[in-house]
Amino acid sequence: MGRLEGKTALITGAAGAQGRVAALTFARQGARVALADINEERVRAVQAEVEAAGGQACAMGVDVTSEDSVKAMVAAALARFGSLNVLYNNAGINNGGPTEAERDVDVVRLPLEIWQRMLAVNLTGVFLCSKHAIPALIAAGGGSVINISSTAGILGSSLSGHTYSASKGGLNSLTRSMAAAYAKHQVRVNAICPGSLEPVMKFGIPRTPERQKMLEANYPIGRLGTEDDVVQLAVYLASDESSWTTGAIIPVDGGFTSTS
Ligand SMILES: NC(=O)c1ccc[n+]([C@@H]2O[C@H](COP(=O)([O-])OP(=O)(O)OC[C@H]3O[C@@H](n4cnc5c(N)ncnc54)[C@H](O)[C@@H]3O)[C@@H](O)[C@H]2O)c1
Repeated sequence: MGRLEGKTALITGAAGAQGRVAALTFARQGARVALADINEERVRAVQAEVEAAGGQACAMGVDVTSEDSVKAMVAAALARFGSLNVLYNNAGINNGGPTEAERDVDVVRLPLEIWQRMLAVNLTGVFLCSKHAIPALIAAGGGSVINISSTAGILGSSLSGHTYSASKGGLNSLTRSMAAAYAKHQVRVNAICPGSLEPVMKFGIPRTPERQKMLEANYPIGRLGTEDDVVQLAVYLASDESSWTTGAIIPVDGGFTSTS
């Protein structure tokens, strides 16, 4: 029997690299999956993959920054599957681009629109999805909210996106507060903080063997992460195996945040 048998999970950003692996893995573990992404065509393709593998899925286009869109997403998931046990807040953006301002590493030159857009998706998006999905989790007798944060929310760096860091740091704080608030309803809220996954976000910087080596050297385990490294922890957090785990901010980073 799968570890998520009988559960329904709503996964945002399900058309992306991690979201797709989460959809397929959760379904393999017995969960019904409601898949949402701003890229409707790609999320429907992920739905088809899940179904081809024998899983139960539905898919919808959603913009997590729009409250109406998020409300419709939760309503559609409930209409299809009847209840909701897991909210997997995975949708997120980072900046790429040829200039430092676009790469978000210099607040003095950072355009306000980049700051606002990233906070809207990475932080307000989680707020809105939680706001509209948590009542369904409570109605189901409890559940699990999994927030995909980042090591950037734990450590600062002059080289990585400042707004991205701020959004993920805010997400870690929101995780703790929601965990404290909803524990009495048996709704657990945890955050996973992945380090750089293959293929690492390149921020417009060409990927050379030297750069790859430099990136890997940051990770005591000696490699970058994979989507599966993250999703295996998410399966645990979604399952009843983690019923006493809430408010945890968990790095999945090959030891990156343990070293200085
Ligand atoms: N890839 C990494 O190295 C890495 C490291 C740490 C954390 N993360 C985090 O992991 C999560 C998943 O990222 P990924 O690596 O799979 O990237 P990805 O770009 O492949 O997937 C992100 C998905 O989110 C969707 N999305 C973007 N804006 C949206 C919106 N407004 N509404 C709904 N969907 C939207 C995109 O269409 C995309 O499918 C993100 O929150 C990211 O910040 C990634």
